[in-house]
Amino acid sequence: MSMSPAAVGPWWQSAIIYQIYPRSFQDSNGDGVGDLRGILRRLDYLVELGVDAIWLSPIYSSPMADFGYDISDYTAIDPPFGSLEDFDELLAATHDRGLKLLLDLVPNHTSDRHPWFLESRSSRDNPKRDWYIWRDPAADGGAPNNWLSEFGGSAWEFDSRTAQYYCHTFLREQPDLNWRNPQVRDAIYDVMRFWLERGVDGFRLDAIWYLLKDPQFRDNPPNPDYRPGQPPKRSLIPLYTADLPEVHDAIEEMRRVVDAFGERLLIGEIYLPLEKLVTYYGRDLRGCHLPFNFSLLVIDWQARAIARLVERYESLLPPGGWPNWVLGNHDCPRVATRIGRGQARIAAMLLLTLRGTPTIYYGDEIGMVQVPIPPERIQDPFEKNVPGLGRDGARTPMQWDPSPYAGFSTAEPWLPLAEDFRSENVENARGDPASFYHLYRRLIAVRRANPALTRGAYRPIVAENDLLLYTRELDGERILVALNLGDEPASLGFMHPLQGRVLVSNFPDRDGEIIDGRIELRPLGGLVVALSGTGAVAPGKP
Ligand code: GLC
Repeated sequence: MSMSPAAVGPWWQSAIIYQIYPRSFQDSNGDGVGDLRGILRRLDYLVELGVDAIWLSPIYSSPMADFGYDISDYTAIDPPFGSLEDFDELLAATHDRGLKLLLDLVPNHTSDRHPWFLESRSSRDNPKRDWYIWRDPAADGGAPNNWLSEFGGSAWEFDSRTAQYYCHTFLREQPDLNWRNPQVRDAIYDVMRFWLERGVDGFRLDAIWYLLKDPQFRDNPPNPDYRPGQPPKRSLIPLYTADLPEVHDAIEEMRRVVDAFGERLLIGEIYLPLEKLVTYYGRDLRGCHLPFNFSLLVIDWQARAIARLVERYESLLPPGGWPNWVLGNHDCPRVATRIGRGQARIAAMLLLTLRGTPTIYYGDEIGMVQVPIPPERIQDPFEKNVPGLGRDGARTPMQWDPSPYAGFSTAEPWLPLAEDFRSENVENARGDPASFYHLYRRLIAVRRANPALTRGAYRPIVAENDLLLYTRELDGERILVALNLGDEPASLGFMHPLQGRVLVSNFPDRDGEIIDGRIELRPLGGLVVALSGTGAVAPGKP
């Protein structure tokens, strides 16, 4: 008996991950902020959409200086999100539906209100002093070196009580833990075990490429390619503050922690060039299972550039390293605004037909746009420090229905709703077969039903002008993906006339269409075609 190829390999290779930003998914208690019981209420929506795993941005106790990425207790739920009981209920309900639940782990830093930091800052000889990164001032009394914070300004904050500076890669309210201290490592591994024992299926490791810093605290060199308008941090090359070789040892240790619990998943948040990114699979694949591949967030949206990217990524992957693709997240402008709604439909087809685990950011499946935030409603500390770079616009409430607060809440939400939420919402999308939502659903269903789309090899066919064609091939099953990124219709001939049937298109009237000879694409149209012949797929005359 042969096993279904889709079932080969660990669950996360054939899974589709869905990121929830908990503050904005569903409010259940009318305070304008999303919560765990809200997510519980919407689980069946995720089942209907067809995703397999949910990743929750942080839900732990936090003063919310960086909306949960500043943690004051790693093993408690922040009250506005609910309680540990609510969490257990959510986890059980998730598992009951056959879904996995991933948490966001923030090991690089805590909140400045975390008891560890309160102790650490209390005196130079406190036993937890060395849990954080403390340095004497420079000779002139200023910061110990030139390191910059991700959110603007120096990465050093002076603490007058003990007359030393502490290091913070992000906000001053987010002091960096000292990962050269084994006690710190053990404390975080205990946190991981706490959640793994409760049953979570893995973690997304926040800011993991920053975890270790130069033990000599050398200055970062200036970046000659820096252009004004880029985040200020980019004015230096992070030679001594990011991607240090020792980070891989720490990730391997984390991996051993999760591996002790069976098939759990470690995803790494890593913003590095591809050739560096792939090193995060680790020596002998003992690092992150999935170092997040963010290339599609920044790519120049052109057929040739996309094809080059896919081929480069495929060629750089270590043997056995499993690819993954991300189209949006809570730190980056919405895809429907980055490239426009029409292109975002093509992007959905790409995301769900490329080789590798796809991650969908909540709301992208209904085409949510980046929402302009009036100055008085700005929440993101990054925007407050460096205007123009804020992330609030991609974190607005999920648009469920046309009711006053979009079905998200019964009160004014913490961030404004998109202006078009009365037309662009789940309820309306459900009733419209041509909606974004149904495109996502159909793509997910087709991906699930066709192992070639999950496990098949990627083979480039055409990347010219606005056309991008590739096949996914497995055990004689061949699926052609044909995408037209342009505003003109396109007609493509092949050396051997193509035979096949359309599995899914962004124009639903084409689903099921028989292909016999040429491929005709509408403007901004895409087709996923199950090929029936065995002839080589090569563009050409007829
Ligand atoms: C990661 C998160 C981001 C957060 C930062 C600091 O980049 O994705 O939202 O602000 O880490 O924890």
